[in-house]
Amino acid sequence: MTSVREIFDTMEYGPAPESPKPAQEWLAEHGERFGQFIGGRFTKPTATFEVINPATGKRLADVSEGSKKDIDAAVKAARQALPAWQALGGHGRARHLYALARIVQRNSRLLAVLESMDNGKSIRETRDLDIPLVARHFYHHAGWAQLLDTEFAGYHGAGVVGQIIPWNFPLLMLAWKVAPALAAGCTIIIKPAEFTPLTALCFAELAEQAGLPAGVLNVVTGDGATGALIVDHPDIDKIAFTGSTDVGRIIRKATAGSGKKLSLELGGKSPFIVFDDADLDSVVEGVVDAIWFNQGQVCCAGSRLLVQEGIADRLYDKLRARMETLRLGSPLDKAVDMGAIVAPVQLERIRTLVEQGKQEGADFWQPTWACPTEGCFYPPTLFTNVAPSSTIAQVEIFGPVLVAMTFRTPSEAVALANNTPYGLAASVWSESINLALDIAPKIKAGVVWINSTNLFDAAAGFGGYRESGFGREGGREGMYEYLKKEVGRSGGREVGNGKGAARKSSRTSGASVGTSRKRAAELDDADRNPLVDRTAKMYIGGKQARPDSGYSMRITSHDGLLLGEVGEGNRKDIRNAVEAAHAALGGWSKSTGHARAQILYYIAENLAARRDEFARRLTALTGGDGGAEVDACVERLFTYGAWADKYDGQVHQVPLRGVALAMNEPIGVVGVACPDEQPLLGFVSLVAPAICVGNTVVAVPSETAPLAATDFYQVLETSDVPAGVINIVTGPKDSLAKTLAEHDDVDAMWYFGSPDGVKAVETASAGNMKRTWCESSARAWNDRGEGEGREFLREATQVKNIWIPYGE
Ligand code: NAI
Repeated sequence: MTSVREIFDTMEYGPAPESPKPAQEWLAEHGERFGQFIGGRFTKPTATFEVINPATGKRLADVSEGSKKDIDAAVKAARQALPAWQALGGHGRARHLYALARIVQRNSRLLAVLESMDNGKSIRETRDLDIPLVARHFYHHAGWAQLLDTEFAGYHGAGVVGQIIPWNFPLLMLAWKVAPALAAGCTIIIKPAEFTPLTALCFAELAEQAGLPAGVLNVVTGDGATGALIVDHPDIDKIAFTGSTDVGRIIRKATAGSGKKLSLELGGKSPFIVFDDADLDSVVEGVVDAIWFNQGQVCCAGSRLLVQEGIADRLYDKLRARMETLRLGSPLDKAVDMGAIVAPVQLERIRTLVEQGKQEGADFWQPTWACPTEGCFYPPTLFTNVAPSSTIAQVEIFGPVLVAMTFRTPSEAVALANNTPYGLAASVWSESINLALDIAPKIKAGVVWINSTNLFDAAAGFGGYRESGFGREGGREGMYEYLKKEVGRSGGREVGNGKGAARKSSRTSGASVGTSRKRAAELDDADRNPLVDRTAKMYIGGKQARPDSGYSMRITSHDGLLLGEVGEGNRKDIRNAVEAAHAALGGWSKSTGHARAQILYYIAENLAARRDEFARRLTALTGGDGGAEVDACVERLFTYGAWADKYDGQVHQVPLRGVALAMNEPIGVVGVACPDEQPLLGFVSLVAPAICVGNTVVAVPSETAPLAATDFYQVLETSDVPAGVINIVTGPKDSLAKTLAEHDDVDAMWYFGSPDGVKAVETASAGNMKRTWCESSARAWNDRGEGEGREFLREATQVKNIWIPYGE
């Protein structure tokens, strides 16, 4: 007689198909043909292309390729809808967001089935994860709309936003983008990916049924060409993009200098780190969720398995055994683990990269069961013995392919984990919370999951470091991506004594560079102090440095008298300064807020002690009240001394037995091109917040009045500022700023200058996708609302969310 044990061993799953009927009926209602959803209704279909079910290869519908005319119409509709949508206020919009959450829940079956058929992902995932999270995002952001006035006082919606999303989580990515934008009071043109446009169209129709005003949400379908039309449209205020790093780079360049706000959520090659004390059975299930969830087509997929040497073979055996039991097949079968790859082109890409992995000598393994040959399917795949520099260890495969490497020590694990240009996510597995929490801050990634993986929630921000992009989606941090600060709403609170310091000086301050026609003899005027006695040096790595070029620039007073000379910095000086800033970063970023505060106060103290000398210099340079500017600088330094140990992170309320710690981390080496006006206050207002949170800085001071900053290094030298934390390179601002923006070891670039300079910096930043903060309109630096505060600290930090589940 067959024993129960034998039954368990031999038992097969029968098929458990979900009916495609709701989706088929919805498609049939539309004649399986769709135009664009603009101004609250569908346009007539034109220039259509087919949408294919990747699991069957059969056509689902035809949708239209969005043309320039369509984008113009959608932008016009969004622009027209904007004033009323903003005037509705936070509570009015909260009601709409709540209605959207409810209508998603009421139609969850239709949406789950349609998503599964369109994308090829399993119904288990769309039903249990994608669609519930979509509803959760609308609920959560109904809350932010309600709280907007109080929690984001002084901010307003960014305006009309263009959103471009990928195919791997079609409706979830829509929700991540649409919900915060609506909450902030923006109106939207969104383009779903060409492979998966159907749930976005369905959602638009549901939103209209839920009473969302016409024109607030417009959906335009099409491929990259349609996406480019959105990116280039002059009447769009913000672009939000999720997709490949290559396209992200194109968009960064295309929007440079346009004044459009930009957030980019790009690719990843996320490490999954297993220490030898980890619970290996949990690890195996973690790996399943990390790389075989959604067939590995997940930007934050744990695609690089890093295992501590002693347990590697045991873990690989367990993994292979588990891979044998994974079920792959029809996405609508409720019992399958893995569905189809989104499209033949993606399947081909996976196959090519796997072949390359084999050729590069890694050990390849796939389960013994046969993968369906009809439709776009690819089996779970494991590569072991992978060289860290090989293609499959570096390139985002975006498929169910895991590459494994070993490490010996925790520091080796960190080095391997960070051996990628990306920085989206990481998983750390260890039973020692000490070890896990020691490792998490060392990994350059926007999200770190401890003993877990692929956890997402609307309350916790998601987004990357480095070439994984910038900006966050979800949580308080995500709301800022759709908000703009209201300028001039500070109520006139000023730093310093306020007497006579230029309130809002223009970019052309009195001082100028270049040839002074006055002779040096004229400078022997006793009132002009100090006289021309030397060329001010640069300040690199804690030392005064002569310019590499050997040239200097003459600096004149506001009324044209020669005041002195500064070195004309070039690429080499920038390189040296960046190197020095890097060398200082490790120590400075790890120092305590208390230690950094003491140094900031000490700089303030030493500056105050030399007030009169600095005041005279500033008055000579700008013609303004130099004393007031020095006082304002001292106060500003106190402000950031105050903030250094107070810019706390958060503990997010995620639906999990555990916590998500949102930590504010320094970005790294920040290039700062200072404004020309208020030369010392502009310099201090930017450098102080950057270093206050642990960054190191390469600053290019005001081009017209750099002597204020070069004098300032004497203050730094006496204030215990570690060598390399602040580096000063004088010279032609725009060209030095561009060099900094191009430099791959500069992690963020701030530029305050001309519109052309903004464009050049934003374009050049696309190299390593560094974060930029660029402005061409003058700020009132002595105004507290405009010249200091959380806005500056937010620009100086990136949020890392560390998820820590607890309990047995
Ligand atoms: P993609 O980046 O080309 O497409 C993403 C979205 O951008 C789509 O809506 C597309 O139509 C649009 N797009 C393409 N070119 C554009 C342009 N020049 N201007 C504006 N919009 C444009 O990604 P694709 O080709 O679908 O996949 C290629 C690879 O990218 C994948 O193999 C994967 O490695 C990566 N990828 C990463 C994603 C992520 O979430 N990080 C998502 C999708 C793809």
